[in-house]
Amino acid sequence: MPPSSDIATQPVEVLPDYLSRTYSWAYLDPRTVPWLDRSPVVSAILWGNAARLMRWAVAQFVPGETVLQAACVYGGFSPMLARRVGEQGRLTVLDVAPIQVDNVRRKLVGLPQAEARVADLTQRQDACFDAACCFFLLHEVPARERRLIVANLLAAVRPGGRVVFVDYHRASAWHPLRPLMGLVFRWLEPFAQSLLDTPIESLAEAASDFEWRKQTCFGGLYQLVVATRRQVSE
Ligand SMILES: C[S@@+](CC[C@H](N)C(=O)[O-])C[C@H]1O[C@@H](n2cnc3c(N)ncnc32)[C@H](O)[C@@H]1O
Repeated sequence: MPPSSDIATQPVEVLPDYLSRTYSWAYLDPRTVPWLDRSPVVSAILWGNAARLMRWAVAQFVPGETVLQAACVYGGFSPMLARRVGEQGRLTVLDVAPIQVDNVRRKLVGLPQAEARVADLTQRQDACFDAACCFFLLHEVPARERRLIVANLLAAVRPGGRVVFVDYHRASAWHPLRPLMGLVFRWLEPFAQSLLDTPIESLAEAASDFEWRKQTCFGGLYQLVVATRRQVSE
């Protein structure tokens, strides 16, 4: 792998079946994308936690770093990340859906350190970054694709580099929203249940090459995980 964040993405000919079947309404329909891509909507979906989860994720990166953002995120997340890495850094956003790439490019105007490309994250990326960020993607993909995505993100960071995951987690038994979230997952997010009790660390064959740090927040409903690649001499 070249030690560079210059990325040669492979053309995506067809969208993943799970995305077209399950999430067309959310990510592929030009009539709904502009309505969903609003900060109040994102905030409501995350029960008022969007801003703090985004701030937490963005704080894991350092100005001047090359960062891979795994998939587009509604709201102001990508511009926040781009401002964090600054003009000395580089943000590369990869998403499999051309409509999402066009949409995030619009939000990144005026931030020359950022670019967005169409790419399928289940495919190995031929590039090396200081860090990668995976914000609420894993619960939206089936278990097989989830393993591929985790493996590919871990493979994309240099020794000492980090992969930051923010996603759903099994809420505590007493959590007042637990029954409602159970219904949401059943009706709208059919792949989420298989993530809730599965440590992200357990999804990766290369897990032992990384040091894992995990915390949860909002009664356990969200998990924040940082995997740091060990230096070769450790
Ligand atoms: C990051 S996730 C969900 C983020 C969060 N729910 C939000 O507020 O936007 C949604 C994105 O993942 C993308 N996606 C799904 N599977 C992908 C894959 N295999 N490779 C790249 N992007 C993918 C979809 O196209 C969509 O834009």
